[in-house]
Amino acid sequence: MPSLLSQLHDRFAAAGADPELRPPGRPEFGHYQSNVALRLANQQGRPPRQVAQEIVDRVDVTGLCQPPTIAGPGFINLRLTGPALIQAMARQLDDPAVGVEPAAARQRVVVDYSAPNIAKPMHVGNLRSTIIGDCLVRVLTALGHDVIRQNHIGDWGTQFGMLIEQLMAEGVDVAGLDLESSVALYRRAQAHFAADPDFAAAARRRVVALQTGEPETRRLWQALVDVSKAGFNRAYRRLGILLTDDDLAGESLYNDALPQVAAELEAAGIAVQDDGALVVFTDQGTAPLIVRKSDGGYGYAATDLAAIRHRVDRLKAQRLIYVVGAPQAQHFQQVFAVARRAGWAPPEVVLEHVGFGSVLGADGKMFKTRQGQAVSLDSLLDEAERVAAPNVAMAAVKYADLSNSLHKDYVFDLERMTATTGDTGPYLQYAHARVNQILRRAEAEGDTGEAPPDLAAPELLAAAEEEALLLDLSRFPDVVAEVGETLQPHRLCAYLFDLASALSAFYERCPVLKAAGPTRAARLTLCRAVGRVLARGLDLLGIDAPERM
Ligand code: ARG
Repeated sequence: MPSLLSQLHDRFAAAGADPELRPPGRPEFGHYQSNVALRLANQQGRPPRQVAQEIVDRVDVTGLCQPPTIAGPGFINLRLTGPALIQAMARQLDDPAVGVEPAAARQRVVVDYSAPNIAKPMHVGNLRSTIIGDCLVRVLTALGHDVIRQNHIGDWGTQFGMLIEQLMAEGVDVAGLDLESSVALYRRAQAHFAADPDFAAAARRRVVALQTGEPETRRLWQALVDVSKAGFNRAYRRLGILLTDDDLAGESLYNDALPQVAAELEAAGIAVQDDGALVVFTDQGTAPLIVRKSDGGYGYAATDLAAIRHRVDRLKAQRLIYVVGAPQAQHFQQVFAVARRAGWAPPEVVLEHVGFGSVLGADGKMFKTRQGQAVSLDSLLDEAERVAAPNVAMAAVKYADLSNSLHKDYVFDLERMTATTGDTGPYLQYAHARVNQILRRAEAEGDTGEAPPDLAAPELLAAAEEEALLLDLSRFPDVVAEVGETLQPHRLCAYLFDLASALSAFYERCPVLKAAGPTRAARLTLCRAVGRVLARGLDLLGIDAPERM
């Protein structure tokens, strides 16, 4: 059953108007408002109130709304009826999807996220991509899309020549390596490379051996990759992220396709030779996109172009979403432009870069350790767990990441993030646990969980605070659909925070356990519905909703 808002929308559409329904400026104007009459009147050069009246006469809102009213210059105000709101709540209580509807056009969607680099620690940038991507995957899946997770790990490149050569020079047994010690190895290899020209030359030869598939070199490369993968998986489990080894599709996967990518671009006249390199000039940015470097090596851009072909041709994706930090915006604009020109991403395929800002320290600068190094994911999560229990700490970190609009930088302030009041993950967890506590108490007092026979009786759930909660509940499916379209998780966060705030306003004004008879049963039903929506909403954010705290 579509949400109340989409039903209303359909009623207007049936009357030939696209109402663009919005919450009105003030609650006394009702639940939704449309300014379609002002828009049409302007186009037709007619008085807006008259146009509004004509629409109101045509549109049939029976069973959904009270008769529409016209306000001010020609706004159409709508107030949902109590029974319609109550029916919507009852459906959410029954429905395993809590009212979330499959999207009208289901799509196959690739979400490219997390993508840490081998032999480098996961840093806070990877953390943001992982958390945001995980939320988008959950939301798109809930909307019935066929979601393919792609973890484009950095498992290829010239740095492996250096790493492997260092392994060999030190005679290190790869069996004893872990992510941390391979990161240390990376640092020693870099220093060695800078200081010793013979080593640097050997490292370059090692790159060639890796590319041509020399067995011992490949074996060591694979060992390095496996060590890092195990480290990434530990982080995913710790964070409760859906990614598994099945989702790995790293840069190395596209190796064999790179010469073809270059050749086709050149043959089509899209890429040109420039100082020995093969490049594409695009309208985006000042520098051209480098497909093949002058030393013959392929870089990050070529791999992303091959990945687009793979995702469109093989995976049959209709929408490609890249959750990668904002500094890579230009890279993606260029890659997308080239893929379009080459016909590898036909116009009906949607390409989206979901960029995001940085995590800052208390000093407002990039988040660094006191030694000036990038903060590792583990130390950051350890820090959070010193302040709160693990599932609360994860809620704090994830919610802080998701609740700001994505492009904004935010300050990593554990005290604020873990607070149980205000716009935080733990506050929502507490709101959920508190509802459950009330339901448990009611059960202990003999409540069977049955709603009163006539929940829609006019005297039940009639307080302003109850009506506000009902209206909020009815919006849940719309908000989830909106996040699926806009890819902005902060809208779901804002919704859940509003819902939790409306819930505490309700507690203040409307006693639940102290009420009696049908009033008590109706309020308990409302609590049950809010608890379900909070739990489902938190789940879509990737946040645990414990029953007790
Ligand atoms: N490994 C890259 C990094 O850490 C992110 C890769 C993002 N995905 C992609 N298809 N380029 O910066």
